[in-house]
Amino acid sequence: MTLSNSAPSTPTAEPTSKALLTASQLNKTVQIGEQRLSIIKDVSIHVDAGEFVVIMGKSGSGKSTLLGLLAALDYPDSGTVKLGENTLSDLDEDALAAIRQSDMGFVFQSFHLLPTLTVAENIAFPLDIARRSDTARVDELIASVDLSHRRDSLPNQLSGGEQQRTAVARALVSQPKIVFADEPTGNLDEHNADQVMRLLLDLRQQTGSALVVVTHDPALAEMADRVITMHDGVIDGSATNE
Ligand SMILES: Nc1ncnc2c1ncn2[C@@H]1O[C@H](COP(=O)(O)OP(=O)(O)O)[C@@H](O)[C@H]1O
Ligand SMILES: [Mg+2]
Repeated sequence: MTLSNSAPSTPTAEPTSKALLTASQLNKTVQIGEQRLSIIKDVSIHVDAGEFVVIMGKSGSGKSTLLGLLAALDYPDSGTVKLGENTLSDLDEDALAAIRQSDMGFVFQSFHLLPTLTVAENIAFPLDIARRSDTARVDELIASVDLSHRRDSLPNQLSGGEQQRTAVARALVSQPKIVFADEPTGNLDEHNADQVMRLLLDLRQQTGSALVVVTHDPALAEMADRVITMHDGVIDGSATNE
């Protein structure tokens, strides 16, 4: 999808004009005892608008750290992340929070639902904090993730699959430009994993959001536009699927 056009339709277009997110030369170190360990090393990566990118790699290779940096949930020691026109490290906390609310969605392996809010309230939460309300959209999403009968349940009354379906609906409720998912099916059995991924991909199709998923699932990698492989804090492969 990304590199298949041999003849650009507009000769003046920049090669990077489709890039929604551009990370340049990211570095991240952590202090472990006496040692400072480099866990992300000069990583540069871009994600185009609407693109579906899968990140693979062994446990400990830096996938979650990289995702956290791309989503500005964590700060790099050096390097920049640009989303659209905004360089995230230049923004103050309020501006960053506003961009997270309007432009980004997140799905985590361990669901991260708010325990005192119902399914409907969890899904509506990103709209609430942006002081928006869209009951029709929330209801539509609850139906799409097949949780209409669970609307008023609390997270601890739900199965893992139901919790993650709630999290997927929440991630997409504000029609974000980009959704980050870190091993979203890692805590689910095969049936629930398939269902959650299908919903994530269906909803992404509807919203046109770009999607960056860390996963070990080769079937998912086959569906991606591009697969990036990490090894020991560096990107050691990037392949574009036809
Ligand atoms: N806050 C931290 N303190 C110390 N070490 C960390 C921290 N975060 C990550 N690491 C280390 O950095 C490496 C990359 O971690 P991570 O990004 O979680 O990898 P992955 O998601 O690919 O399993 C691992 O060796 C991990 O132990
Ligand atoms: Mg991880």
